[in-house]
Amino acid sequence: VSLKPYNTFGIDVNARYWVEINQEADIQTLLQLTEFVDTPKLILGGGSNVLLCHDFNGLVVKMNIQGIEVVREDDDHVYLKAGAGISWHELVAFAIQHGYAGLENLSLIPGTVGAAPMQNIGAYGVELEQVFESLTAIHIPTGEKRTFNHADCAFGYRESVFKRELKGQYIITTVTFQLDKRPTFHTRYGAIQETLAEMGVPEDNLTIKAISDAVIRIRRSKLPDPAQIGNAGSFFKNPEISKGQFDALKAEYPALPGYPIGDNTVKVPAGWLIEQAGWKGYRAGDAGVHAKQALVLVNYGYATGDEILVLARKVQQSVLEKFGIQISPEVNVV
Ligand code: EPU
Repeated sequence: VSLKPYNTFGIDVNARYWVEINQEADIQTLLQLTEFVDTPKLILGGGSNVLLCHDFNGLVVKMNIQGIEVVREDDDHVYLKAGAGISWHELVAFAIQHGYAGLENLSLIPGTVGAAPMQNIGAYGVELEQVFESLTAIHIPTGEKRTFNHADCAFGYRESVFKRELKGQYIITTVTFQLDKRPTFHTRYGAIQETLAEMGVPEDNLTIKAISDAVIRIRRSKLPDPAQIGNAGSFFKNPEISKGQFDALKAEYPALPGYPIGDNTVKVPAGWLIEQAGWKGYRAGDAGVHAKQALVLVNYGYATGDEILVLARKVQQSVLEKFGIQISPEVNVV
């Protein structure tokens, strides 16, 4: 099976075996197969956060579980449960249409509901963990179903227990979100305020729909559409450096942006570092650095995963040489 249609980077590699999961019972059936145990497995949602470098000599499990339902309500909240295979933006659109607040800043993020908690997706001032209530998952070695609450997931910046201690151990089947009946608007992010103003939305008449529209406009103006140019969003994480290192760099590069994390740490935008290192708009064959957002690596058509990886390493090396900062990938390299 060619995986080209199933990864947003559009890398053309093959998988030995392929199975689609449409309901939880399909997983149990799969786990009964003795062959399953020894076969390497790759679980794919939207394929929007992976870089596939080689043919996969194992089983690709395409998560396709559907369904969106309100499972509980109280005075302030609505608890919305969604199947892992639902496309992320479909969930966001559903919530906005029904007036459930909390997901609007996360509009248009590629990928699926099941993949979202893995890396605690985030954008424009909101992270998934702020709206996360719980998830259900099947333990691959035993077939047991487990509910993970917020603390169990150990969320961090683009991190969770599913990328660390429990990597490869669970198949996420549903995720439940705690959404608000009365919205709290997250407009601290500068670009949101500017875009709302451009759209002519008065500050005292905000709606979650307006925020979603603003986010969609910003994303469309900066981020390449995977349907047109292969990519997996931000290729690297924004590095956190010590306050001392930040101050020293700031003296040399006064324009260096930084966001304090506590008293002694500053997060700096990798996109800025990569742009300053001269990579923005760079292209080698079909592998490139996006011309409008240097944090995004792109496949213009027929790049291989290795070609993207070679470019990523060069970018990392040059940022290290120029700034003394080690940047690390956000996408999963398979
Ligand atoms: N910048 C540059 N040059 C660039 C790119 C960025 O100078 O080529 C500077 C910008 O001027 C700005 C700063 O870097 O001062 C931040 O840029 P931006 O707002 O575009 O956000 P980001 O830090 O590059 C992060 C997330 C994105 C998310 C945006 C918006 C990570 C790894 N990435 O990018 O998430 O959409 O913020 O909140 O944290 C993703 O994870 O795939 C993703 C797209």
